[in-house]
Amino acid sequence: MTAKYYRRFSLAFFVCLVISVFLSYGRARETLPIHVVNQRTGWAKKKSCEACHIEADHFALTGHAHSMSPANSEASWELLGQLAKFPGAVVDNVRIERRDDQIYAVHTNEGTSQEIRLDWCFGSGLHARTWLGILGDSWGATDQVEFRWTWYHQLEGFDLTPGQSEKNLPGYFGHLGLLYDHPKTRRCFACHATRLPIDEGRIDYSQIIPGVQCQRCHGPQKEHVDTDGYIIEHSWSGIDHVESVNRCAQCHRRAEEMENEDIVPENKFLARFQPIGLTHSACFNSEKMTCIICHDPHLPLGQQKLDGIWQCIQCHDGTPEKHGLCGAGQKKNCISCHMPKVTGDVPVAFTDHWIRVRTDTKPGETDGSNNE
Ligand code: HEC
Ligand code: HEC
Ligand code: HEC
Ligand code: HEC
Ligand code: HEC
Ligand code: HEC
Ligand code: HEC
Repeated sequence: MTAKYYRRFSLAFFVCLVISVFLSYGRARETLPIHVVNQRTGWAKKKSCEACHIEADHFALTGHAHSMSPANSEASWELLGQLAKFPGAVVDNVRIERRDDQIYAVHTNEGTSQEIRLDWCFGSGLHARTWLGILGDSWGATDQVEFRWTWYHQLEGFDLTPGQSEKNLPGYFGHLGLLYDHPKTRRCFACHATRLPIDEGRIDYSQIIPGVQCQRCHGPQKEHVDTDGYIIEHSWSGIDHVESVNRCAQCHRRAEEMENEDIVPENKFLARFQPIGLTHSACFNSEKMTCIICHDPHLPLGQQKLDGIWQCIQCHDGTPEKHGLCGAGQKKNCISCHMPKVTGDVPVAFTDHWIRVRTDTKPGETDGSNNE
């Protein structure tokens, strides 16, 4: 390329760059509703971030990265293979078969049999895993069967999927699980996938980016990758604490989605919905309070320093311009008394994010040892 050409090219490139940065800056501030966010265009390949961002190394170990995966993966098969050991499923005459690299759930009863191919596995296994089989309805839209048996980390085994009953009620797909129509199916995928292209009512599985990956929180980044990082969508800067929490709450649930009378601190089921508790805590009066003052979304939970006191004493350091110290005179283990783990209707323990004075807690043994 001659120097003249090169200059002209650089000028054109620079102009494009300015325009794009301007456009992406404008785009960044609006929060896109969930049904829009994962149907945008301009996606980079999932693996492309690794080349330049160290975040990608640890991120691969997070629950987010694995919140959805193909059901025929080895990890999923290994768990499903154990279903035969669980009395409930055996009594129910449900078994798992592997054919041509696909996994099927089969129910037989007095000579008749019904089956469904399991296509996706939801949940990283940190808490639980639930399998889904995809069906097309007579209109061509995508429906699904949510398999009746879920694997729970805490039980190291299977039990009924949350919300499913022992009995076969209307709406069930035989003994294999609950049948969901297209809008409900779409909702599951909207929170568990990054990109979710919909083509005339059908989910286009060939283009889907499963799991909560980088671009689910940072937006489609093809331009960014194509320009070696010059064009950046500054999606998390310059937003207030309500907006910040709402972005996580798009999946972790917002208070607006619940009945007011259910939003009381004693309701144990609320612990599953961390943003609801957190936004009702007195601590949320501080404009600094967000999910990401404690959580680094690029690290697996086990690598985040969450068992110490540093998060609390950022604000509760006893100085007049900040906030009070512990009324009970405690100097460590803040989390175990003020944010304990609770178990609601399913065998999964959640951390109660409604930070408050409680009468039912005492310091835990694993708490506060290494981060003070
Ligand atoms: C070719 C290298 C390259 C690739 C590939 C790349 N980035 Fe970047 N990225 C950069 C550079 C350079 C910056 C600017 C760093 C800085 O300003 O400190 C950046 C910055 C960012 C930022 C910070 C923006 C901010 O608010 O400051 C985010 C978020 C980001 N990249 C996400 C991604 C994602 C997601 C992917 C994968 C789809 C990706 N990047 C792929 C080079 C790259
Ligand atoms: C697109 C939906 C979605 C968004 C947005 C989202 N999450 Fe999640 N998050 C999930 C799902 C699904 C899981 C369950 C992963 C699993 O199966 O273990 C999860 C799990 C987690 C976990 C526990 C597991 C782990 O180690 O990753 C934490 C902590 C978490 N999210 C925090 C956040 C924070 C903080 C934000 C905002 C910065 C956020 N999430 C935004 C869907 C989302
Ligand atoms: C509004 C967003 C949303 C929808 C809709 C949704 N999920 Fe989730 N799902 C989440 C989040 C967030 C988590 C992480 C919960 C946590 O660990 O705190 C999660 C976790 C899970 C888990 C792992 C268990 C756990 O508690 O970590 C499974 C399995 C699961 N979802 C299956 C499904 C299925 C099946 C559907 C559809 C019937 C569905 N989800 C619909 C957001 C959603
Ligand atoms: C659950 C949402 C979520 C996911 C998934 C996620 N990020 Fe982020 N990322 C954030 C948030 C929130 C911030 C802003 C953190 C802050 O301001 O403290 C951020 C900041 C960044 C930054 C700027 C870091 C800095 O110090 O300025 C980069 C680069 C980045 N992310 C890259 C990535 C890459 C690469 C991936 C995938 C491997 C990824 N992110 C996945 C939520 C996420
Ligand atoms: C004051 C600190 C703090 C803030 C703020 C915070 N968390 Fe947590 N979070 C924790 C601790 C501590 C745990 C438990 C970690 C463990 O089990 O090792 C946790 C665990 C979680 C988990 C795993 C499931 C569970 O409930 O145990 C999810 C998901 C989660 N947080 C999401 C969020 C979201 C979304 C927000 C914002 C609404 C948020 N957190 C704000 C401290 C915090
Ligand atoms: C971002 C700042 C911030 C952080 C971080 C924070 N708090 Fe608070 N907290 C506040 C504010 C503001 C109040 C309201 C009272 C006040 O103004 O002093 C409050 C109030 C409280 C109260 C009294 C609740 C009530 O109902 O009266 C308790 C208990 C508490 N915080 C414990 C904690 C613990 C434990 C942590 C760490 C897990 C923590 N806080 C982290 C800002 C914060
Ligand atoms: C052994 C359990 C326990 C531990 C550990 C603990 N607290 Fe408390 N905290 C309490 C109790 C009980 C109260 C209510 C005291 C009262 O009003 O008599 C309280 C009250 C508070 C209040 C409200 C003060 C007020 O005057 O309203 C704050 C803020 C607080 N704690 C912060 C913390 C922080 C920060 C830590 C960690 C450094 C911590 N707590 C550790 C049990 C505990």
